[in-house]
Amino acid sequence: MIKDFKRPILHLICLAPSLWLFHQMWLWYNFAPHSLTANPIEYITDFTGDWTVRFLLISLSVTPLAKIFKFKILKYRRAIGLYAFYYASLHFLNYMVLDYFFDWTLILEDIFKRPALTFGMIGFTLLIPLAITSTKSIIKKMGKNWIKLHRLVYVLTIFAIVHNYMMVKADVLIPIIHASILTVLLGYRVFSYKSKKSKRSNKQLSGDRKHEAIVS
Ligand code: HEM
Repeated sequence: MIKDFKRPILHLICLAPSLWLFHQMWLWYNFAPHSLTANPIEYITDFTGDWTVRFLLISLSVTPLAKIFKFKILKYRRAIGLYAFYYASLHFLNYMVLDYFFDWTLILEDIFKRPALTFGMIGFTLLIPLAITSTKSIIKKMGKNWIKLHRLVYVLTIFAIVHNYMMVKADVLIPIIHASILTVLLGYRVFSYKSKKSKRSNKQLSGDRKHEAIVS
């Protein structure tokens, strides 16, 4: 018996874009008609890059949606975050293997010389420790440090969206929409942090008053 039937559905939905992509790549490999346009490598890079940003933004939306609308989705946040890493790895792998065929001299030169790629690389590098520390046992072991480390997701998403903005060729509307969503999510984060802090200091103040009343 599957305890949580929603989880396999979630995995299927998250995997679907990559399954479609692998199918198209298979058709391309076999010289059959495909949807990867006349420049398949560029198409694959754009496709996987776009899905990485989408999953990053979805994973950042889980907590606000759960808190505001009382959705029981917090338990899926980790899986969604890992899918962002999965698509980012496909994005980097495609660049490394299909685009540059492991030519490390060219790859490193490209990353260090083109600021857009430097931003992308920083974003991807910051995503690695977050993915590695996503197992239940590591989360337990790290305690509060895990929460601190995983705040990096906001920083890396900023780098990723700047990279997205700089990399896009014609229409900057999508990266601007991505940046606007991230601004709203960051605003929510600051707002909830401040309201938590003021609630805590109000509690302390009323505690102090009670103490004063008892003493006097
Ligand atoms: C978390 C990390 C990253 C994210 C979220 C990301 C996302 C994106 C997005 C959204 C695009 C533009 C897609 C479009 O035009 O629609 C893009 C393009 C691109 N990215 Fe990344 N990226 C990341 C890391 C990297 C890294 C590490 C590299 C390689 C070092 C890289 C190489 C590229 C290249 C070469 C393009 C342009 C493809 C083209 O010719 O159109 N990205 N990326």
